Amino acid sequence: MNRVIFFETIKKIAIYLLFFSSSILVNEVAVAQKPESKFKYVWNETEQQRDERLRWWTEARFGMFIHWGIYATPAHGGKKENSEWVKLFGQIPEEQYQKYFDTFDPNLFDPAAWASAAKQAGMKYVVIVTKHHDGFCLWDSKFTDYKATKTVYGKDLLRPLVDAFRKEGIRIGFYYSLIDWHHPQYPIGKVHPQGWYPFEEKDQQKIRQIEEINKSRDMATYAQYIRNQVRELLTQFGQIDLMFMDFSYPKPAGEGGKGRNEWESEKLLDMVRKLQPQIIVNDRLDLMDVQGGWDFKTPEHRVPEEWVTYNDKRVPWETCHTFGHSWGYFRNEPGWKSSREVLDILISCVSKGGNLLLNIGPTAKGTLDDRTQERLREIADWMKLHKQSIYGCTEAPKEFKEPIGCKLTYNPKTRRLYLHLFTWPKEGKLELSGLANKVYFARLLNDGSEIKYTDDPAVLTLPTQPPSVAVPVIELLLR
Ligand code: GLC
Repeated sequence: MNRVIFFETIKKIAIYLLFFSSSILVNEVAVAQKPESKFKYVWNETEQQRDERLRWWTEARFGMFIHWGIYATPAHGGKKENSEWVKLFGQIPEEQYQKYFDTFDPNLFDPAAWASAAKQAGMKYVVIVTKHHDGFCLWDSKFTDYKATKTVYGKDLLRPLVDAFRKEGIRIGFYYSLIDWHHPQYPIGKVHPQGWYPFEEKDQQKIRQIEEINKSRDMATYAQYIRNQVRELLTQFGQIDLMFMDFSYPKPAGEGGKGRNEWESEKLLDMVRKLQPQIIVNDRLDLMDVQGGWDFKTPEHRVPEEWVTYNDKRVPWETCHTFGHSWGYFRNEPGWKSSREVLDILISCVSKGGNLLLNIGPTAKGTLDDRTQERLREIADWMKLHKQSIYGCTEAPKEFKEPIGCKLTYNPKTRRLYLHLFTWPKEGKLELSGLANKVYFARLLNDGSEIKYTDDPAVLTLPTQPPSVAVPVIELLLR
């Protein structure tokens, strides 16, 4: 009897030990697969603190994006519209792409002129593409030779840009491509010049060749390269206000998708936040469900229907747009937006509580082409007279309804309402619903001239001739 009890007890202990050790193992695997659990405690900030950290940016509303690299030389998009993707969609072989590197000589580069154009246009921050998907670096990175300083031009292109924009009082942001089509350790997947068509066409033979090549590539080495480079960017250029990482595509994993595990996003972001605690970071690191894993959302090439939300909560957001479709310089690109269309986008963003990051694609010579200069000038003309309806403004309280053909923005500090008239009412009258007895004074923003109105119902009497500005704005001072 005693012997039976003895063996039963031994058995129980053994089972318990087995279970316990395997659960440790399982947990370790789980921790290894979900590194985010560690991060949650690294960046612990209340929503209020975050809003405070983002304040300069939400008040700025308007920034400049700059896509500039050796893709400005081919200046077309291959089968698609984007010149910065031409290596992939143009299926440009390495030797040919190398020519764009070897011949890159932007000898008319004048960063002060770019910065001044941005300043005039009313842009308060800049986001410079320091490295795009093709891997070419604007700065003198210690970790690669694929950089501006090794071209015939021979000089760092990033530092003069940073200095010039800073001199104009413009905040500095860096775009950094997580994707890299040049780095020898970057595993080839679908989003890669060598991988796109094989995966798209399910070409098994080519896919096997890719798998063979990938055996000698190491993601962890490349992830370290990202950290090394981002560390340079965040330690050698003074205060950096914003970091725009681009981009994650974790699915489909079988096609070489890459996301938080591959980039080691949390480790990277942890470093970023430690190096520059005030920095604002976009949402493309594949850390949406991680607290502090992103600061703002980035819908691209579209104005959202309404204030962008995440988990049903309104969040800070910025949309990026370019004049045509290509981010990089595209010679003779059709379908460029007029400056009025761009202003419409800007106003629409602000009216929904968001920012606009407007892109320019400078030429291979380092200049802004005529189309770009003309539009920036026209935007500048408008901003000079109407900036109050943009800076510090946001969505108007719901009780104020937008009249047909108009967009409203609102400055909560000054309690002023801005009515942007995209169509000028022929009958000369404009009724404002929700504003009866609430308006103290109304005037045109371009010249400060008074606009007559009645209190109840609130009706504006407009001059028959609209002012000659791209989008007329009436400022309503509320009681
Ligand atoms: C995309 C594109 C890219 C562009 C960026 C701008 O992710 O890959 O070419 O730089 O969006 O937001």
